[in-house]
Amino acid sequence: MVTRPDCRHFDAEDSNAVVIELPTGDVTEGMVRIGSTVRRPAHPRSFAVAAYLDHLDSQGFDGSPRFLGRDSQGRDVLTFIDGTCAAQIPESWVRSEVLLTSLGRLLRRLTDASLSYWAAEFPFPESRVAPDPDPPELVSHMDVTPQNVVVRDGLAVGLVDFDLARPTTVLAEFANTAMHWCPLMADADLWPGWETTDRFRRLRLLADSYGLDDERRRRLPAFAVGAAGRSWARMKARAEQDGGGWARMWAEGVGDKIMRRQEWLRENSAALERALLDPDRTRDQKPDPNH
Ligand SMILES: Nc1ncnc2c1ncn2[C@@H]1O[C@H](COP(=O)(O)OP(=O)(O)OP(=O)(O)O)[C@@H](O)[C@H]1O
Ligand SMILES: [Mg+2]
Repeated sequence: MVTRPDCRHFDAEDSNAVVIELPTGDVTEGMVRIGSTVRRPAHPRSFAVAAYLDHLDSQGFDGSPRFLGRDSQGRDVLTFIDGTCAAQIPESWVRSEVLLTSLGRLLRRLTDASLSYWAAEFPFPESRVAPDPDPPELVSHMDVTPQNVVVRDGLAVGLVDFDLARPTTVLAEFANTAMHWCPLMADADLWPGWETTDRFRRLRLLADSYGLDDERRRRLPAFAVGAAGRSWARMKARAEQDGGGWARMWAEGVGDKIMRRQEWLRENSAALERALLDPDRTRDQKPDPNH
């Protein structure tokens, strides 16, 4: 019998364990690893996220951390997933097509484990600025960036940082992951070394390894254009309301970057649709191990 997340206290401290600082992103500060655990600052949605992680565990999904409880300093304690995550500017190994297709399969397993979870009360992370166009189908991660995927032996084995988990749709989660991993963004914003990456081929590989259905493939290009607009409005609202890292990102031009992405998505809508649906591109083509 598992105790409710909000009644779970973590007191299995090992006083000899070494405290290692973890590389944090733009918003969260003070993340550390202690032994086989990770400590993150608690936030108002922590227990809702913890209940979702409990569900994933109960479904046999092994690609997410377990919520172990709150420690005596009030931090969330999660299991550490062994492996490597990308740096803020992703290293060249992140371009691997073998990694990309393993991520497609991992995300599919997350979707399958999540569809049986329904939490009508699951809180959205932001005020309801720019509401979603479709009713939610599931709770999902919604921040599957290279920095939030744990890689072992060249394969995606885990997802961390469920801070933005929320009620959403299969298409929204897939499109968001594709945006980060293909990546679907303007040429000017590609990471160094990614300039010649075939984003269309990568989108097809991700869709095939995930098993995205044709109807969602058809909808994806237009959906992604709309999602960029919503993302712009949400980031702006967060910068204004929450300040901190959000305001810093906004000041550094994240809003303009999102607008450039939207423009790129508009210009390439037809090419994206062809890449996803063209029958001449054989389904389930193999990732090139040399890419
Ligand atoms: N459970 C975990 N297992 C293994 N590594 C983890 C785990 N949680 C976090 N990490 C590592 O710590 C890094 C930062 O953690 P996390 O992604 O949760 O915070 P963050 O990205 O800094 O948050 P934000 O994006 O809100 O600023 C991750 O990129 C990953 O390398
Ligand atoms: Mg992160």
